[in-house]
Amino acid sequence: MSKSAADTSDYNNPVSATLNGVADLFRKKERIGTLTEDERLDGKTCLVTGANSGLGKATATELARRGAHVLMGCRSDASAAMKEIKAASGSDAVEVVHLDLADLESVKTCCAELKQRGITLDRVVLNAGVVPKKPLKTRQGFEMMFGVHFVGNMLLLKQLLADGTIPNNTYAGTPNGRSADKPRIVFVSSETHRSGTPIDFNTLGDPVEYSAMGSIAQYGHSKLVMTAWLQELARRLQSDKGVDVSVHCLCPGPINSNIARDAPAAFKPVLKVVMGILFASPEKACEPVVYLTAAKSLENQTALYLHLMTQKKPAAQALDAEVSKRVWEEGEKFLKR
Ligand SMILES: NC(=O)c1ccc[n+]([C@@H]2O[C@H](COP(=O)([O-])OP(=O)(O)OC[C@H]3O[C@@H](n4cnc5c(N)ncnc54)[C@H](OP(=O)(O)O)[C@@H]3O)[C@@H](O)[C@H]2O)c1
Repeated sequence: MSKSAADTSDYNNPVSATLNGVADLFRKKERIGTLTEDERLDGKTCLVTGANSGLGKATATELARRGAHVLMGCRSDASAAMKEIKAASGSDAVEVVHLDLADLESVKTCCAELKQRGITLDRVVLNAGVVPKKPLKTRQGFEMMFGVHFVGNMLLLKQLLADGTIPNNTYAGTPNGRSADKPRIVFVSSETHRSGTPIDFNTLGDPVEYSAMGSIAQYGHSKLVMTAWLQELARRLQSDKGVDVSVHCLCPGPINSNIARDAPAAFKPVLKVVMGILFASPEKACEPVVYLTAAKSLENQTALYLHLMTQKKPAAQALDAEVSKRVWEEGEKFLKR
């Protein structure tokens, strides 16, 4: 499949991805809207994955500040981050649930725990992300970025929907009532999904080799595959009666976070300076995440894609219904491996 004009921006290696990401921050674009202080989440429960660091931590803080009960889905010790989120948000309704998206058994255990506790999730923010400098594998043998951004997230959502932990009529037969405020799923994708390795069904999910410079192509690929899968999920979670569960994606732009922790040592000093000066703080970068999670104007809407605060279409391959349906079918096979 040929790439559309919108897909040709070069985010394909760490240097061009950084330069393009910074340029994006300064391009003038139409904003989708601005969240007001009275758009609150009192009484809502939100799961935020990777909430102990960077964007996830800032998002969790803002959701807690807006009144949500926040579950931090984290793979490592998040007790210090939880304390900071409580202090910064002024809310005690913040807790940690163990979740390692690189291990499907951990995903199942997390879902079982939430189900057993009778937790109902009004929002799920799939924020956790990783960029290893060399190919690593998940516990079940998937390439790490593919495994975390796609396979782990896919199982998490399928199980939460099947269990009714995310209330939904489609898979759990739990009608979401007459309330216009349906549950929402928000995936932190990346503009690199436009220029990463395209989806090829002959090789999808196969082991890949890459260098530190080549890791961004695989990173973009993993975000593309999940973005495509979510287009199919959004279709399945709506009917002529309306939206059952909303499904949105976004790119937050370049963030001064810990994402480059695995960058080659030679790049780190330059990267630290560039990120510190030019990249947005997590507190600023979380605006589109929080907007998609909380904005009242988005009730009953689904399949939106934001780049920063501007609405766009995702890449042509993600939007292609045949591609996303096939990604869905292949995804089922990965979960049976
Ligand atoms: N930084 C950017 O410029 C940028 C640009 C576009 C999109 N994004 C996306 O934004 C999201 C947040 O990244 P960030 O910039 O805030 O980076 P970050 O500070 O490195 O945070 C990433 C978070 O994901 C967690 N994580 C990684 N692997 C995981 C796993 N297997 N299971 C559960 N959690 C896992 C990390 O946990 P640990 O602390 O335990 O490692 C951490 O909490 C990612 O999806 C990223 O792809 C970032």
